[in-house]
Amino acid sequence: MAIRNIVKKGDEILNKRCKEVKEINSRVIELLDDMKETMYDGNGVGLAAPQVGVLKRIVVMDVGDGPLELINPVIIEAEGEQIEAEGCLSIPGVYGTVKRPQRVVVEYLNRNGEKVQTEGTDLKAICISHELDHLDGILFDEKVIEFVDYEKENE
Ligand code: NI
Repeated sequence: MAIRNIVKKGDEILNKRCKEVKEINSRVIELLDDMKETMYDGNGVGLAAPQVGVLKRIVVMDVGDGPLELINPVIIEAEGEQIEAEGCLSIPGVYGTVKRPQRVVVEYLNRNGEKVQTEGTDLKAICISHELDHLDGILFDEKVIEFVDYEKENE
């Protein structure tokens, strides 16, 4: 496993639509492992493949209930709404409130190629929505309702 370099906003790879994974081969498994290590190293709760420069529909996340690996994820149910502050490892130091569903169900392939579903509410629903946006080239700051200046608040 290895920590990969995180692509920062301004690199056009973050604005591109990612391609579906056709085959879960050893490169995909290595990518999943590296993405998890990179996410934990950066103290993030989620990371999408384009953030490490790979245009594949792959996301890893861990909101405190253990690691999740999502290949070709699709949100198949979404309900309610919540407005909470978010950040992104690709946009360091920037935080802002975004409107997201309160609950989502996401369908995806796990690393064994099995089609599975996971439900997420609260932070997990935010994280799933934020990371899946990355796969379509959308960054959270495009959706911010109000930017939050944490340094100012702490003065
Ligand atoms: Ni992000």
